[in-house]
Amino acid sequence: MLTHRLIAITTVLLGSGVAPAQTAVSPDPLKILLITGGHPFEEDAFTEMFRSIKNVSFTHVRLGGDAERKLKPEEAKTYDALVFYDMNQRCEAYLNDLLALMEQGKGAVFLHHAIGSCPDNAEYGYLVGGRARFGKPPGSAITTAKFKANTSYRAHIEDRNSAITMGMSDFDVTDEVYSNYFVNTDAHVFLTSDNPLSARQLAWTWQYKKSPIVYIQLGHDHVTYENPSYRSLVERAIFWVSGRLANTAGTAVTMPGEKLYGSLGCAPCHGNDARGARGPDLKSPVLWSRGDAKQHVVDVIKNGVRGTEMPPYANVAADWEIRELATFLGRSALASRKAISADVRRGREVYHSVGCAECHGPTGREGSLGPELTSLVTSKGVDYLKRKIRQPGSDTPFNYATVSVVTKDGRHLTGVRRNEDTFSLQMVDRSGRLHLFLKDELRNVIHERKSMMPAYDESRLPPDALLDLLAYLQNASD
Ligand code: HEC
Ligand code: HEC
Repeated sequence: MLTHRLIAITTVLLGSGVAPAQTAVSPDPLKILLITGGHPFEEDAFTEMFRSIKNVSFTHVRLGGDAERKLKPEEAKTYDALVFYDMNQRCEAYLNDLLALMEQGKGAVFLHHAIGSCPDNAEYGYLVGGRARFGKPPGSAITTAKFKANTSYRAHIEDRNSAITMGMSDFDVTDEVYSNYFVNTDAHVFLTSDNPLSARQLAWTWQYKKSPIVYIQLGHDHVTYENPSYRSLVERAIFWVSGRLANTAGTAVTMPGEKLYGSLGCAPCHGNDARGARGPDLKSPVLWSRGDAKQHVVDVIKNGVRGTEMPPYANVAADWEIRELATFLGRSALASRKAISADVRRGREVYHSVGCAECHGPTGREGSLGPELTSLVTSKGVDYLKRKIRQPGSDTPFNYATVSVVTKDGRHLTGVRRNEDTFSLQMVDRSGRLHLFLKDELRNVIHERKSMMPAYDESRLPPDALLDLLAYLQNASD
């Protein structure tokens, strides 16, 4: 059985012209599609740079030649990443294919004049993370990017913790600089210049759809191609967009689902952590224990819920985006369901000694002022509880909102609202007494924004005591 497998693998490797002995120890070489066109360059010196990178094989294609065909998703499948060094003025012929590749997560590096490609297409500029228009129609007011050849300056490593620049120092270059180009505000800039002839942002990482993107402004001619620091940046950028260079905090790419949750505007209704606000909790175990949970979530996002505030997103988001979003919600729901390992008995003591019991009752199953707590670890998760306890904030539910009243005879009372309509108000005061007021008997009703729930900072409730407390509450629900 084992022998069979080995033989099969060897045949495949020999068939593709790779020495089997080598591949057994080092990973497969990266396959790069190198795209040029629309701008002259020193071809031999440029391609020599790629030949010199260990463990990378590349195929060089030109726009207007083979490139458009190679960029078709079917063809591009065989490449680990794309490297663009073109300055093509029109991208209609391949833009849709490129966008489809980005939906699949194909990584891409854009070098030097590639920032000036497709100046009339805003989506292309967004994809690169920056945009330049060189030369403007006469009489037009469009901002024009400028270039200055043979400019000497020092390239400064802006982020030393990025996987691409790790261990690198500032370096000197003589190269063509650009100025007056746009950079997306959330691109992660890792290389800068303070030469006045150059824009400040020289290189960045960025994510477009699912694809990691790197742009490096440097690279006009052989002087730069031969610069070892430049080579190192290009090489690491290629490995990074191919997922072969570990992410570090500085360049971490957030999961697309998480990004979409923010960009599609779910948070105002479902809360920043999706734990529920005006709309329901999207990480609730009740929801995610359904057999068809993911499909249900996808359907609800697509179609909305008629007669409620939940809008349909079918025309706003692509199908793959909706699926990503559902995957993200499901995964993070699972992640928050683990048992808390801490001291349950100590947690019980903490619960009573810091005063939770006064408002939430002796066992956390509901008190006169505060709601039931024991099911929350399961239904809303540890992070939610921690936040609520540290900073109760203002997102209190209707029947626990804080109200203050001033009676006709000038008495002030503050408590938690139990019920309210146009004419009357029911309120529980701090001592747990229930009051029923008719509003025309009151001088004033003030809806406070602050919760009655006090904030417990680390001095009142150290982190380990908080964990014990949460373990107690989780345990109390079983
Ligand atoms: C304007 C407010 C609003 C926005 C914006 C909104 N939702 Fe909702 N959503 C709701 C409400 C309200 C419901 C409950 C509908 C009902 O009563 O069935 C809901 C229900 C849901 C449900 C069903 C939950 C369940 O338990 O069955 C999912 C899933 C959901 N929303 C996901 C999202 C996502 C993802 C986004 C962003 C792409 C989003 N919602 C944007 C208000 C909103
Ligand atoms: C003075 C009364 C009071 C005390 C003391 C108090 N709480 Fe609260 N708590 C409330 C009220 C009122 C609410 C509901 C309003 C809100 O959600 O902010 C609440 C809400 C909460 C919530 C959010 C419940 C939900 O479903 O969103 C948690 C969690 C909580 N309290 C935990 C605690 C813990 C743990 C302690 C002790 C460390 C504590 N509380 C002490 C009054 C109190």
